[in-house]
Amino acid sequence: MCGIVGYIGSKIAAPILINGLKKLEYRGYDSAGVAIFEDNDIKVVKSKGRLSILEEKVNEEKPQGTIGIGHTRWATHGEPNYLNSHPHVSNSGKIAVVHNGIFENYMELKEFLQTKGYQFFSETDTEVFANLIDYHYKGDIVEAVIKSINEVEGSYALGVICRDCDSKFVAARKDSPLVVGLGEGENYIASDIPAILEYTRNVYILEDKEVAVLTSDSVKVYDNHGTERKKEVFKVNWDVSSAEKAGYEHFMIKEIFEEPKVIKDTINPRIKDGKISLDSINLTSEDLEKIEKIYIVACGTAYHAGVAGKYLIEKLARIPVEVDVASEFRYRDPIISDKNLVIIISQSGETLDTLFALREAKKKGARVLSIVNVVGSSIARESNDVLYTWAGPEIAVASTKAYNTQLSALYLIALDFAMKKGRIDEEFYKRIIEELRNIPKAIESILENKEIIQKFASEHYNAKSIFFIGRGFDYALSMEGSLKLKEISYIHSEAYAGGELKHGTIALIEEGTLVICPMTQDDLMEKMISNIREVKARGATVLAIAKESNKQAEKAADVVFTIPDVDSLVAPIVAVTPLQLFAYYMAVQKGCDVDKPRNLAKSVTVE
Ligand code: F6R
Repeated sequence: MCGIVGYIGSKIAAPILINGLKKLEYRGYDSAGVAIFEDNDIKVVKSKGRLSILEEKVNEEKPQGTIGIGHTRWATHGEPNYLNSHPHVSNSGKIAVVHNGIFENYMELKEFLQTKGYQFFSETDTEVFANLIDYHYKGDIVEAVIKSINEVEGSYALGVICRDCDSKFVAARKDSPLVVGLGEGENYIASDIPAILEYTRNVYILEDKEVAVLTSDSVKVYDNHGTERKKEVFKVNWDVSSAEKAGYEHFMIKEIFEEPKVIKDTINPRIKDGKISLDSINLTSEDLEKIEKIYIVACGTAYHAGVAGKYLIEKLARIPVEVDVASEFRYRDPIISDKNLVIIISQSGETLDTLFALREAKKKGARVLSIVNVVGSSIARESNDVLYTWAGPEIAVASTKAYNTQLSALYLIALDFAMKKGRIDEEFYKRIIEELRNIPKAIESILENKEIIQKFASEHYNAKSIFFIGRGFDYALSMEGSLKLKEISYIHSEAYAGGELKHGTIALIEEGTLVICPMTQDDLMEKMISNIREVKARGATVLAIAKESNKQAEKAADVVFTIPDVDSLVAPIVAVTPLQLFAYYMAVQKGCDVDKPRNLAKSVTVE
């Protein structure tokens, strides 16, 4: 969703900017560019397409300046071409801007600036903003940026350099993420921490409408009225290698292989003396008694974790749960009060639809508990309670390990609530905790058998359309398996509740259609077998994901990928891994760019 970086110091800026952009390329890869302050002028190098094309250009042109800003774009306003790519420079050539977000009132501002003689060459809102700063610039760049951000509506993370300023640049944010990296004799900005992790672990996380002024030796932060703010340094404790491929062909497969570890990291520290302890979240039995309904709100993969969460919380804690896609929740005027708990799920903690849904829920009086991966992200900061998923940086655009950890967090919450509400007994509680502890081992054994899925994918990667069917938890899993497949392999796919297919969609099943059936729920086994028979009778080829002891699956399906015999209740955390591997190998076989699928970006910070 566009990535921005900025550098000021004594080193040549361009290689540092390119290096940072490489770490942010997952946020957008339609075009890329840098603007460097050089010889009292601004030199812009940009290009359509992947970052590697920009890198070649930069290597040819070799800009030497030590102040610069860079951008990798996921197109919102205007097609991905050279003119629309960032940085955008004002008519006078004085101001250059990189921007992530959307200025909603840019048309009005554009018309106004046109009356003042400004001309526009691209279709972007960012070019308007560069000229707005130019219009307000009367010798003080900070003042001009502050005046400009007070006139725009929408979201932004910005880097601004000015031709008159040989020793500073300016950054600002609202509703789009931006951190300031604090170095020694050099400072940075970035949309996300991995872009600067190589250089510093000390960052300021900017709040909405804060403006940072960076020189080589100092960073000052102001509010949007120009009053200086005191910021706390946030220490990043991520391992640098967690943001590198470490010998794997793609980030996605590396991240799938990290699942046993990150699930352990998410679950184990929260189990103390055989009891679940949800960090500092203090929801007492009395608090839970007052909750009439829980809403789970999220987008995409995180939403699918929420669907499983609904089944889980309702089954264990017997509290009604509604799951909603964040973009719908926000605008449907949901019936919410202080009798509701809203659980927000987000890997990035910056998804705009989800963030706005959170604000809507809080405005209506609900308590918000978020399940978030990125520490210090907007969603984490604005929630009443946070339960972090310790998945580490997830770089591949397609979410994998974050999903398993989101499910892990939901299990902890559901078990804790169920126990506090007296809905389950001690023995069951202890048994399921033990099952959760054993999940990493079960996933390790799945990863050891990855070749079975790889082979299956090599035989089926030409499929035009693939269906996923499942019941209960396996329906939630089917949705996630189907999303994973379509986003990285571009194969059309749909997910259906096993019992629902016959109400229409079964018309699409014909000779050779591939149907994937997660079937991990013992109590629904007979029903799933019937659904498999129904599709097989119409010519489908069926791959089942079933537990080792499930002999019925072997008889019903064409191919069975077995998972260890875990309890049906925790099976979803385990059974998603083969679906992720299936999507991965299908995409690899098809020669797709697995980590950077077309049209997508990680961390969707626009509506
Ligand atoms: C799919 C995927 C997306 C995200 C969604 C929400 O693989 O990654 O569907 O799950 O954009 O993102 P977060 O969790 O960052 O809010």
